[in-house]
Amino acid sequence: MRFDRKDILDIHSLSKKEISMILDIAQGMKEISERPVKKVPTLRGKTIILFFEEPSTRTKLSFDTAAKRLSADVISISKSSSSIVKGETLIDTAKNLDAMNPDIIVMRHSSSGAPHIISKRVRASVINGGDGIHAHPTQALLDMMSVREKKGKIKGLKIAIIGDIAHSRVARSNIRGFSKMGANVNIFAPETMMPMEVEDLGCKKALSVESCIEKADVVMMLRIQKERQSNILFPTEREYATLFGLIRERLKLAKKDVIVMHPGPMNRGVEIANDVADSECSLILDQVTNGVALRMALFYLLAGGGKTNDKN
Ligand code: CP
Repeated sequence: MRFDRKDILDIHSLSKKEISMILDIAQGMKEISERPVKKVPTLRGKTIILFFEEPSTRTKLSFDTAAKRLSADVISISKSSSSIVKGETLIDTAKNLDAMNPDIIVMRHSSSGAPHIISKRVRASVINGGDGIHAHPTQALLDMMSVREKKGKIKGLKIAIIGDIAHSRVARSNIRGFSKMGANVNIFAPETMMPMEVEDLGCKKALSVESCIEKADVVMMLRIQKERQSNILFPTEREYATLFGLIRERLKLAKKDVIVMHPGPMNRGVEIANDVADSECSLILDQVTNGVALRMALFYLLAGGGKTNDKN
């Protein structure tokens, strides 16, 4: 099967076959990071620009690491170090980056839809590294990779996604991705953090945090995204932790071999207790490790693998 996409912008535009192909290639890429010399020449001569308008630790550094492990040249630009602060528009910025002839532009932006807008105006492939509350496709892909690796499958698993669903691009992409791959996705959020339209993405709303966790194979906790909340949506962090946080007692409702996930950064002691985050069932650091392999696979598919970089 050929991978004929120019860009990776969201999960809903990827087919089930394409997702499986990405996960298979990512699994193969993982071995490179375990070698004494963690580098292959696959993308020698290719240029990748990381354009992160919002802060990031995991996504930015794993894209950077992935590019370097494939021998690509990497250039980073942030909002504060760019001419955006002088008033240059997003589209002009993107066109100027494209004029330097990169092969791929990875973009994180606080506005939903920003990577989609620039993808239509640049020759380079565009990868969405997270846009507003809309989508975080590479996080969902690495999460699916991590679950498939641990459980041997995705189809038929009960996935519980809990927390600030309203402001979470990770939740939106994971609901779409896991549902597409045949999992049963149940979500729970406090009423003030539950968007109206979310069931259209292919999941079921649970009535309580306990019923969401009950008999789950996977429990994924989400960060409260205070930076995206215009009003205060819950009284105190202590109450949030007591009423909705993932504590040992609640986790006992899940299957015995449950795995716990979190995209990071975590609010320890709020949405997830310290002892759960650091427990033997936590997959949180494996998610980060798999993020590098997954992003290597995407770079390979978009800029390597015999592909030309023609506009589509
Ligand atoms: N998971 C995630 O997107 O983390 P960062 O914001 O640190 O990139």
